[in-house]
Amino acid sequence: MSILIIAPDRDLTAFSQRLAGLLPQQRILLWPEGQREAEVAVVWQPPVGWHQKLPRLRLIHSYGAGVEGLLADPQLPDVPLCRMVEPALAVAMARYLVGQVLADQLRLTELAAAQCQHQWIDGSPRGGRRVVILGRGAMGEPAGLLLRQLGFEVRWWRTVATANDELAGIEALQLALADCDYLINTLPLTAATDGLLNVALWQQAHGLVVINVGRGRHLVADDLLTALASGQIRRAVLDVFEQEPLPVGHPLWAHPQISISPHCSALTDPLGAAAVVADNVRRWQQGLPLCHLVDRQHGY
Ligand code: GLV
Repeated sequence: MSILIIAPDRDLTAFSQRLAGLLPQQRILLWPEGQREAEVAVVWQPPVGWHQKLPRLRLIHSYGAGVEGLLADPQLPDVPLCRMVEPALAVAMARYLVGQVLADQLRLTELAAAQCQHQWIDGSPRGGRRVVILGRGAMGEPAGLLLRQLGFEVRWWRTVATANDELAGIEALQLALADCDYLINTLPLTAATDGLLNVALWQQAHGLVVINVGRGRHLVADDLLTALASGQIRRAVLDVFEQEPLPVGHPLWAHPQISISPHCSALTDPLGAAAVVADNVRRWQQGLPLCHLVDRQHGY
C-alpha cells in the first residue's frame, strides 16, 4: 500500500522517515510522486484539486488539527477523513495559552517597555482569575487544567454542557463574559462558530482579555477594535487571522492593546504525528474504528 504525503510548503522529512520506520511494509511517497498509486494521503495545505490526481485514494489524514480548509472543497472525495490529535500539539497549546495569561498577569510587555525607557514602574502582578475557554477538546481541556493548577477558575463553553464547570448556549456565554477575565478560543471553525466572537458577545464584557488560537474567521476584527475602544475588551492576543500572513499595514499589527503571534501557538510534532497516522493506517487496514474521524456534518 502507498501513503502519499502532500505538504508542498512544509518540510515533512522527519515525519516521513518516522512513518516509514513505523510502517515498514508500506511505501511512503512525497508529493508530487506516486499520485496514481496512493491509497492514503497525509495532507497539509495541499494544492487545489490535489485529490483529482489520486484515483485510488481511500483515506485522508490531515497533518493539522483544523480541517476546515479541506472541508471547504466541495469536490473532496467521500472517504474517511481524520484530523490530527497528538499529545505534543496539546502540550504546546497549553504552554502557549498559560504563557500568554501569565505574561498578561505579570505585565511582561509593560515591564519590557519600561526597561527600554529606564523607568521604575509599579509592576505588581494583575489579579483576575476567571477564565472561560471555548471548546473542551484536545486543545481546550489541557490548557484549562493547567490554568486551574495555577489557581485560575476555569469554565469551558461547549455545544452541550455535561459537567458543572461547563456552559452551553450563547446566552450562557454572554452572561459568563460579564464575569470573566480571560476568554480563550480553541474552537474548530465550522458554520456554527464562524464569526462567533462578534459585537453581540462583547455586550456584557468589562475589560476581559481575549486570546484567539482557533481560526481568524472566528473573530470579527472590526468588532474587536470597537470593543477595545469601549473597554469591553482590555487586550487581545491573536495567533490566527482571516488572511495569513497578516498583511503588512493591517490595523491589527500596530494596535497598542493587541499582541500578535504568527500562527505559531502549537505546531504538530512530526514524530508524534507519525505515530498517530501509523496507528490509524493500521486500524484502517484491520477494519477497526479510526481515531479522530471527522464528522462532516459537524465540520470537525
Ligand atoms: C493548526 O492550526 C492546525 O490546524 O494544526
